[in-house]
Amino acid sequence: MAGAAADFGARAMALAERLAQHTETPPGLSCTYFSAAHRAAAADLAALMHAAGMETRIDAVGNVAGRYAAKDKTARAVMVGSHYDTVLNAGKYDGRLGIVVALTVVEHLARAGERLPYNLDVVAFSEEEGVRFSASYIGSSAIAGRFDPGFLELRDTRGISLGDALRQAGSDPATIPALARRKDDLAAYLEVHIEQGPVLLDSDQPLGVVTAIAGNSRYNVSIDGVAGHAGTVPMAFRHDAAAAAAEIVLFVESRCNRTGLAGTVGRLAVPDGAINVVPGRCELSLDIRSGDDVLRKAAVADILTEIDAVARRRGVGIAATPVLDARAVPCSPRLQDALASAIAREGLPVQRLPSGAGHDAVMFDGLTEIGMLFVRCGNGGVSHNPRETVAAADAGIAARVLLDVLRNFQ
Ligand code: HGY
Ligand code: MN
Ligand code: MN
Repeated sequence: MAGAAADFGARAMALAERLAQHTETPPGLSCTYFSAAHRAAAADLAALMHAAGMETRIDAVGNVAGRYAAKDKTARAVMVGSHYDTVLNAGKYDGRLGIVVALTVVEHLARAGERLPYNLDVVAFSEEEGVRFSASYIGSSAIAGRFDPGFLELRDTRGISLGDALRQAGSDPATIPALARRKDDLAAYLEVHIEQGPVLLDSDQPLGVVTAIAGNSRYNVSIDGVAGHAGTVPMAFRHDAAAAAAEIVLFVESRCNRTGLAGTVGRLAVPDGAINVVPGRCELSLDIRSGDDVLRKAAVADILTEIDAVARRRGVGIAATPVLDARAVPCSPRLQDALASAIAREGLPVQRLPSGAGHDAVMFDGLTEIGMLFVRCGNGGVSHNPRETVAAADAGIAARVLLDVLRNFQ
């Protein structure tokens, strides 16, 4: 069986390299929602799933869904998924590792002619990062029956709405509700994902069992001040939108610089800015997270209060539009234990840890039991960065653990 781990690892890494060829920013990796690269990645994933003996489809929101059928086709399904979209200038493994590890396991089952007592659904979700339309979990929310029709009105930086992007790709948004899986159809949801942090690296463990996924509040903030001549408008008379934004950025940092909280302003822009113009408008994003929803909501309330105070002090207009409010989600104790037992059967110590990152798994909370397996990252655990890295050996052990869990799933 040891050989399988090495083969699994090499295969998973080769598949990740293959998928990384579909990019908007060669030689880097960017694969954002419904770009040509995104569509090419979807087609490639569908071909790989089909070649692995799966019934395969690309759905109306771009998810690539493969079914490795049970002998009894009426059996319930276990879903194993993750996302294939990426942030800009991304690493090759965020989301994708979970997909290629699952694919590697199905290829192994198919080669052995082994069927499971349930349908195994492998789903590559189309949009988890929220890069193009500022809406996360578009793909998994559709399958979980939580798609927000308001998403269809969201516009990208070119002014194209999500609805128009889907229609231009030949999808009918009216068919999205029919993608929802029924509660009694799903026996469990499992996701293998890179840790995107240093914990497993520091404890020298290849794998970890996720206990919970942090809650996440996100806002798009726009600040309207008064543009003016950089040389003639006296400082005391200015309504500088960028200076207002700077106060907000520093407040987010200081308010969230406490245990159990994380606050980030990931986007900060002065549209049509110029070196000799007082910024009349500034746009920024807020991302506030915590494993404790009370902590997170209190931080958000304080930040929104401070935003109002900055607006009054500086005589600028500030609008904060919520784009995500995802509560902290615990992982199923039963699936945690199933993953832990499989890791122990590998002769490895079991480490349980929370996830500061969000994952498609949160969409399935309440629909079915969710379980997540983390895989160690190298380079200090960096992610959302081309230096993101995973060892083939660790990917191979993850595939063996996933195969073990699937074989023993009741
Ligand atoms: O932002 C996140 O936590 C995830 O990478 N989308
Ligand atoms: Mn990510
Ligand atoms: Mn991810």
